[in-house]
Order: sequence, then structure tokens, then C-alpha cells
Amino acid sequence: ITDVRESMYLVSEFAAKYFNDTLLNSEEGKAIGLSYFKERGFTNETIKKFNLGYSPETWDALTKEALGKGYKLEFLESTGLTIAREDRPFDRFKGRVMFPIQSMSGRVLGFGGRILTNDKKAAKYLNSPESDIYHKSKVLYGIFQAKQSIAKQNNCYLVEGYTDVIQFNQAGIENVVASSGTALTPDQIRLINRLTRNITVLFDGDAAGLRASIRGIDLILEEGMNVRVCAFPDGEDPDSFARKNSHDDLVAYLENNSKDFIQFKASILMGEAKNDPIKKADLIRDMVASISKIPDRIQREVYIQECARIMDISEQVLVSTLAQLIQKDI
Ligand code: CTP
Ligand code: MN
Ligand code: MN
Ligand code: MN
Ligand code: MN
Repeated sequence: ITDVRESMYLVSEFAAKYFNDTLLNSEEGKAIGLSYFKERGFTNETIKKFNLGYSPETWDALTKEALGKGYKLEFLESTGLTIAREDRPFDRFKGRVMFPIQSMSGRVLGFGGRILTNDKKAAKYLNSPESDIYHKSKVLYGIFQAKQSIAKQNNCYLVEGYTDVIQFNQAGIENVVASSGTALTPDQIRLINRLTRNITVLFDGDAAGLRASIRGIDLILEEGMNVRVCAFPDGEDPDSFARKNSHDDLVAYLENNSKDFIQFKASILMGEAKNDPIKKADLIRDMVASISKIPDRIQREVYIQECARIMDISEQVLVSTLAQLIQKDI
């Protein structure tokens, strides 16, 4: 670690502590931030575990406090906590509840800050900008809190958002991380791969979530990992679903509705494709395209067999389609 990056971690860790203090101890933090979290059902224990916070509605409260404590403006700026303005630098995060984003080893890399209303016009989350310590495409929210459980359960639940991770933890499911709304990347998948070979994708029950799941499947397969998918009812995300259901019902739902990628694709597309030979053919080609991403030849064979069985088509034709796809890749 260079001195520059260490200084950036330190000022980020200071900011996390400042936001957490402000949430728990200031009048504004308690009245606005804490009551927001309580309304979402977050317990004190949860707030502590994820070091949640609140950024006050001022011009430069954090910047001033940090400078007063001897942190350098240079690092406040390079982490994006402070926005440069020659005469009067100001805080990036104002009047938001704060989610610190931590590395696998627990260092604070950046923040997500949520507005407190459901105003559809304003961007709901403001995130730290890319920096020398925060590479959005290489981090997974919650990995620090999840790593032991992922290894122990030998499975990782992958969700979209901060609150999905937090609500699952509160429901007693700790092996969960979020891609934080960005399209899943190979670097994020490799981070999980250090802990387990098994990922269960739990994206939101909406069109965007479905698209992201389908895209995620191929990326995970390409890394040689096993992927399962569990869809949520329309309009629900893991957070809202976990809140509405008991721990036991949540666990049962995950168990009963997680499908391997062949079953998942069959279930979402079969409804419409069932009686349409052209659509059915497209679906089969799509499944074989996913199978072609798998590096291991024996695994490919196993999925070809499953695909043939589920789609009621001969293995022979699947194998030759697969061969063409793999040929094209080379
Ligand atoms: N996100 C973001 N910027 C936005 C919207 C979303 O960075 N303007 C990221 C956040 O990490 C968010 C995730 O994408 O947690 C998933 O987005 P979404 O499903 O819209 O939000 P939720 O996590 O469900 O947030 P909430 O429950 O607070 O509405
Ligand atoms: Mn770097
Ligand atoms: Mn979403
Ligand atoms: Mn969501
Ligand atoms: Mn949500």
C-alpha cells in the first residue's frame, strides 16, 4: 500500500465514523437518519454491523471536521468526500443515509448515500466516484461481513442493492453480497470465487432484474462457477421480500425456488415459447450458447443432457450446435 492510498483509507474511515456518530448522536441524525432506518426495520445491531451513518444537510460539516483533525484536503478530494471549489470546498454527501463500502479485509473504500424521500426525479443513490481506492467494478457490497459465511455455506447469494444485503443479514442469512446496481463484472465474480464456487443470483423481480440475471449467468459460467437463480415475485426485491416473510419462510422460498440456469431459462421463457416452434428453437439455442461458456467439457456434457431432457430434443443436435459455437469462439 502506498502512502497515498493509506491516507485515502484513513480519511474514508474517519468519514465513516463521522457519519455513524452523526446518525446516532446528533439531533438531525436521530430525527432524520435514524428514524429512516428504523422505518425500514433496521435494528441497532444492524446499524453497528454495517457501520451505517447520516451526512448532515450542511455545506461542509465533514470537510471542516476532517481538516480540523488534521486530514489533508488532497485526500478528502481524491476520495470524493469533498468537492473542490477554490474558495470554499464542500461535502459531496448531504442529508443522506450513508452506506460505507468495505473491502474484503474491512477497509472503507467509498460510500453509497441514499436520499430520504422516494422522489422519482432525484437519483436515489449517490455513490463515491472512482478513485485509487474505489473501483466500483471490483468491489462487492457486504463482502467483509459475508466472507466467513460464504465459505462455511459454500454458497454466495448475489443481490442488487445495499438494503438487500442488510435485510438478509437481519433475517439471519449472512452469505450475501451486492453488485450495487452495476452490471456484474468478472472481477466481482472472481472475488466470490476465492470463497466458493457456487453463486445464487437473487435479482429484483422486475424487467431490469431479469435482464441482469440473464447476463450474470453467462459471466458466472465463464468463470467456471456454478450458478443458480431464484426469482422474486413481481415488484419484490430481496429486501422487501425478506421483510414480509419470516426467517423460515424466506429460507424455504430460497430453497424451493432456486433453479439451475437451464431450469431458470426454461421457466421464464417456456410460457411464451411452449406452442411456438420458432421461439422454442431460439430458447434452445440460447441455452446452448450459455452452456458453451462453461470451460469444463464434462460439465458442458452434463448440462447438454439436462437441456435435452427438459426441452425434449435429441442430445445429438445439441452437441453439434455446441460444437459450432465453441468452434466460433476459437
Ligand atoms: N443504485 C445506484 N444509483 C441509483 C440507483 C441504484 O447506485 N440511482 C444501486 C444501489 O447500490 C442500489 C442498487 O443499485 O442499492 C439497486 O437499485 P434499486 O433496486 O433501485 O435500489 P434498492 O437497493 O432496492 O434501494 P431501496 O430499497 O433503498 O429503494
Ligand atoms: Mn487501483
Ligand atoms: Mn432494482
Ligand atoms: Mn431493489
Ligand atoms: Mn429495495
